[in-house]
Amino acid sequence: MSLHRLRSITVGVPSVDAVRGFYRDFGLEETSPGRFATADGGEQLVLAEAPRRALVGLAIGVDDADDLGRAAAALARLGVATERAASSLRAVEPVTGVRVELAIEPRVAQKPAPRVATNAPGETLRVDARSPAVSPAVSKPRRLQHVVVTASDPAAARRFFTEGIGFAVSDEIPAFGASFLRCSTDHHNLLVQPGPFAFLHHSAWEMDDVDAVGRAAAAMVASDPARHVWGLGRHAIGSNYFWYLRDPAGNYAEYSSDLDVIADAEAWKVAASTPAHGLAAWAPPVPPAFLAPPDVVALASGRA
Ligand SMILES: [Fe+2]
Repeated sequence: MSLHRLRSITVGVPSVDAVRGFYRDFGLEETSPGRFATADGGEQLVLAEAPRRALVGLAIGVDDADDLGRAAAALARLGVATERAASSLRAVEPVTGVRVELAIEPRVAQKPAPRVATNAPGETLRVDARSPAVSPAVSKPRRLQHVVVTASDPAAARRFFTEGIGFAVSDEIPAFGASFLRCSTDHHNLLVQPGPFAFLHHSAWEMDDVDAVGRAAAAMVASDPARHVWGLGRHAIGSNYFWYLRDPAGNYAEYSSDLDVIADAEAWKVAASTPAHGLAAWAPPVPPAFLAPPDVVALASGRA
């Protein structure tokens, strides 16, 4: 039938041990050293030793063997070699070197989070009671939502993921060469943007709501202020609330909630946005380190 979810990522870092604690604090469950599960999505993050930080692998859930066959034929037309097994298909994206695996697996049905009653002008849904949103309890990421990777040739990488693997385009920033791509009903599961070389800009993890984003990020920053990158804000493209943190290897990790959902591709209008509009509907000023991570700038200029 189709691609249905971003299953997991493998992130290369120079020292796995230096990074594990960050993702435990972030709210992921470390099931074995360097392997992490979310509340709803199973094992979704694997840390692997690599010379420098990078997205090493991306796994995508598909419905059936027809999906594998379709992707294999499309990748062959693009001149990309594939490795086919009974329930999976593997290929390497040539520009970024990311290992992509499609695997047949059941769809994940998420239980809704408890509804939080809110008050607004003309509509008081919580009366004579304090909001549960002021509870100090920090909730866990529900699942992996998206990743952002850079490519020296983003157009070629986009072709691999759309024409080859079968991602759909949700929105784009043509002036910047950025494409928001989905392999599920999420507005985006993968954003490919230009960069001097391939690196993982960030991974994003779905939280129940904006309070869950704020509480979890505030707790992370309280225990180590150097983790803060950018937030709290709301993206214009995808509409999600966000707060970005930095792991010890330099990868950014985003708490995200209320992302747009696209169930009917015909009903969704792909928008071409400008870079300024694309960053945030509202947020504190964007820090230079978000646009150009310092370690990437140093590497690209030969200073590292
Ligand atoms: Fe994001």
